[in-house]
Amino acid sequence: MYNSSMRYFLQGCALFFYKHLVKPILFKIKPDKMHDLMIKFASWAGRNRLFSWFIKYSMTFENEEMLGQKLDNFGGLYFRNPIGLGAGFDKNAVTASPIERIGFSYAAFGSTTGRMCPGNPRPWFHRLPEYKSLMINVGLANEGVDVVAKTVSSANSVSKTLNVGQSIARTNDKIAADDKEGIQDYVYSLQKLNGKTAFIEVNISCPNTFKGEPFTDEKRLDQLLTELDKVNPSQPITLKMPSDKSWEDFKSLLEVAIRHNVQGVTIANLRKDRVGMEIPDDWKGNLSGKPTWDRSNYLVAKTYLEYGDKLTIMGLGGVFTAEDAYQKIKAGADLVSVVTALMFEGPAAVPSIKRGLVKLLKQDGYLNISEARGVEAEKIANKEI
Ligand SMILES: Cc1cc2nc3c(=O)[nH]c(=O)nc-3n(C[C@H](O)[C@H](O)[C@H](O)COP(=O)(O)O)c2cc1C
Repeated sequence: MYNSSMRYFLQGCALFFYKHLVKPILFKIKPDKMHDLMIKFASWAGRNRLFSWFIKYSMTFENEEMLGQKLDNFGGLYFRNPIGLGAGFDKNAVTASPIERIGFSYAAFGSTTGRMCPGNPRPWFHRLPEYKSLMINVGLANEGVDVVAKTVSSANSVSKTLNVGQSIARTNDKIAADDKEGIQDYVYSLQKLNGKTAFIEVNISCPNTFKGEPFTDEKRLDQLLTELDKVNPSQPITLKMPSDKSWEDFKSLLEVAIRHNVQGVTIANLRKDRVGMEIPDDWKGNLSGKPTWDRSNYLVAKTYLEYGDKLTIMGLGGVFTAEDAYQKIKAGADLVSVVTALMFEGPAAVPSIKRGLVKLLKQDGYLNISEARGVEAEKIANKEI
């Protein structure tokens, strides 16, 4: 009782201080620099025993009875709560330890690629606090799967409660711009990661690359998945979907996915559409956070209604609060990931979302999170965004 009140108090303080003290300082630093510092600090924090203990002590909030679920369609993996880290925060999987201690139940590290990738010319990030958004133009900078497979595999072997996932994408260079080479690039990454993580996310929808998103085309996706099937990985696969397709086009990709060795879909990637937003024309990139919110909810709901029994849905886009996460679940998501919220609200957002979810479930009379899945899907799917 004392411990849980103390934690509640510490988490409240952490949220308050992050918002009013830490964030104003961090947001004075250029976003590219800040992201590098954040990863370095988190990686250090994971190796420092005292700090690790403190993160775990102060950030713990679990209620597995209400928030835990075993997903039979997704390799039978058990998730102690529905909140995970989405791809992009940590491309090279060096922060698994603090990510686990903050209380995420899963993480998609990456995206990593077949070869090391320097990424697009800087800047990679612009902040848009007025829209609760970041503009991203990283272009898949990462150390390459040969390095990352070792890091993520060792994180997976020591993690107790975190389902360690790795997102893979096509190397952002001229060689992999060719379809055949691009497919080989994914195949190579999948072979390297086979058996080394809890799940794999196949990112077909990175918009910030040399040749765009060739595998968001029905035929080419079929060719890609046919080759990935041959690897026959031991872990479940989720497909990271684009956010800017019409439902008809999106559905045609799902039709391809269910014919292959794909158990889940991650909905959705960054938003390209900046209509109605005041963003300087020379800022390159695509949008995270709140601009992705409505569209992601719509696609989650439509997918749930037609494929909810076949595909596990990881919903992400614009989740900052417990109410947001609950909305994604009511739209049909099994699991809810966050990326921008971690940067805007700090680590205490994670226990705060979980605590809030328990409260919301109780208010609505649900005993477990799975009972709330999709209860508002019809309503949300009727509003095409
Ligand atoms: C800094 C940053 C980097 C990202 N990099 C990737 C990436 O490498 N691969 C990927 O699939 N998605 C990437 N994304 C997209 C996120 O995974 C997510 O789909 C999107 O940001 C919406 O979620 P959010 O509103 O919680 O940020 C990135 C997002 C951010 C903010």
